[in-house]
Amino acid sequence: MGRAPPPAAFDFGFGRFVERLENQPQNRINSKSGGRGRPRPTRVSQRRSAKCQVLIYHSAVSPHSHRGRFITFEGLDGCGKSTQLEKLAGVFRAQGLSVVVTREPGGTATGEKIRRLLLDTATAGLSPMAELALMFASRAQHITEVIQPALAEGRVVLCDRFTDSTEAYQGGGRKLGSEPVLALHRILCHGLQPDLTILMDSDVAASVERARRRNKADAAKNGRGKHDENRFEQESRAFFARVRAAYLAIAAREPQRVALVDARGTAAETHARIVEIVRRKMKLAAKTA
Ligand code: TYD
Repeated sequence: MGRAPPPAAFDFGFGRFVERLENQPQNRINSKSGGRGRPRPTRVSQRRSAKCQVLIYHSAVSPHSHRGRFITFEGLDGCGKSTQLEKLAGVFRAQGLSVVVTREPGGTATGEKIRRLLLDTATAGLSPMAELALMFASRAQHITEVIQPALAEGRVVLCDRFTDSTEAYQGGGRKLGSEPVLALHRILCHGLQPDLTILMDSDVAASVERARRRNKADAAKNGRGKHDENRFEQESRAFFARVRAAYLAIAAREPQRVALVDARGTAAETHARIVEIVRRKMKLAAKTA
């Protein structure tokens, strides 16, 4: 993996990046609703314009200013994220960009240990709040050890799942709601937001079935006695329907950051859609892998 600096066309510049953060809906407080349903800012900067007053969450802009690009992939188990992530990494690399491909839970030695605990079917009776805390423990380590240093070096970070997964699975699937997830994100991740999130929308039944088949095959390959990654795939259809609904709610709330991609076609079709989105948002030359 090379360390070539990003070409100029790819560099948005810090000012524009901050401006985009400030304009993200989650960083605004609607004066009519008084920001009801959103966490209150602990310290705010204020900007006045003719149209509106924008309040900025202190944590949303610091300390995570970066030169690189942070792109996350989200979706139900078995929707084909990993394939698409690798294909997009190939496109970036072909352009001479330095790419880091990583995942959550996991991405660091400590995070991978937490991942085993979280996904192993032998982990019985884990409370939803403990599960939530472990997801964020893995993430906090991942940001410090991998994501933030790579972004500071100007690299492209492609991450398989991030906080949207927690909001969808623990917030929606486990019914904890968005509030504790967003609060922990602010505290433990200092509000680090992806520049772009590709949300791969797929059919609940087909995706989960695909994930179950894949994990069964992996378990057979690994042999008995090894950990498996089936704990979430054992959840009900209703659980995954709640996960999908929570994802769609995030996409509706943050349309500037989250791009919803129909992932029900072939891998090549989905890849073409993703490249088009990335090209539009990040000024990437229109090439597919
Ligand atoms: P992953 O390996 O991406 O599964 P798949 O390849 O099947 O999509 O993710 C592992 C599981 O962890 C997945 O079922 C979703 C779950 N998960 C959460 O419940 N909360 C989270 O915050 C994250 C990151 C993952």
